[in-house]
Amino acid sequence: MQKPILILGACGQIGTELTMELRTKFGPDAVVASDIREGGESLMASGPFELLDATNYEAIEDVVMHYEIDEVYLMAAMLSATAEKFPMRAWNLNMSSLFNVLNLAKERKIDKIFWPSSIAVFGPNTPRENTPQSTVMEPSTVYGISKQSGERWCEYYHHKFGIDVRSVRYPGLISWKTMPGGGTTDYAVEIYHKALENGTYECFLEEDTQLPMMYMDDAIRATLELMQADPGNINVRSSYNLGSMSFTPKEIAQSIQTHIPDFEVHYKPDFRQQIADSWPSSIDDSLARKDWGWEPTYGLDQTTAEMLENLGKK
Ligand code: SER
Repeated sequence: MQKPILILGACGQIGTELTMELRTKFGPDAVVASDIREGGESLMASGPFELLDATNYEAIEDVVMHYEIDEVYLMAAMLSATAEKFPMRAWNLNMSSLFNVLNLAKERKIDKIFWPSSIAVFGPNTPRENTPQSTVMEPSTVYGISKQSGERWCEYYHHKFGIDVRSVRYPGLISWKTMPGGGTTDYAVEIYHKALENGTYECFLEEDTQLPMMYMDDAIRATLELMQADPGNINVRSSYNLGSMSFTPKEIAQSIQTHIPDFEVHYKPDFRQQIADSWPSSIDDSLARKDWGWEPTYGLDQTTAEMLENLGKK
């Protein structure tokens, strides 16, 4: 039987779908959702929920003890674009929440951790195409610095204290249930909303900026597969490269135009262009494939069809 799971940051873009999927798989009561604010109706109605600040060690510890939590998924974070505006708040949230869960595991109060890293760990000196697992990193954003530091700490806690912490470097994630907030890859979600609402979109990245992306269903499946993998097969305890598709704003626009021929995009790059320019354009995820059998399923056109259909119904 699955021992109880706690999700920190359950109301965000990933947390919402992760919580629902884990509840479907393990039963509603096995998954305690928590966030600093309440989430959408279906999430709140689907099982236990606690208002919880991920930077507050004692508050997390209370919930962990109360529900006899075994596994924690730490999905609370400040993303790349917002973190540039509030560097210290981002550093504090992203790092102290991670130390809180790593230290709970060190105190043997929980057994297993999932913590997401990001393509933002790479920087302008990283080889951009087919970026390898191990290469020059040198992130140039506040968010990337926090994720790279976090990776080093995860690996350290694993080697030093035997903590079972697992992680993937998510690319930009595309989903229709919950909006992303404050990221550089958010354009790839907004564009579908605007295509349906107005038939036009003003894109904050240049038309030819290629970034690694993934449909949410693939991202959730990757997370669950990694967490279920035999610990002996997990050779990377910092964070795995995770790939799926790569495309530019122009290519996503063309994909949408096959459904909405009059859809127009105008390009007005802002400060997020510089962030995007520092990130890989595609990812070599051969280690994730080899160690725990990762294989993506969604391409751009299938993602577009799913997004337009589901947002249209909404
Ligand atoms: N989607 C994130 C961002 O744009 C990258 O991990 O900040």
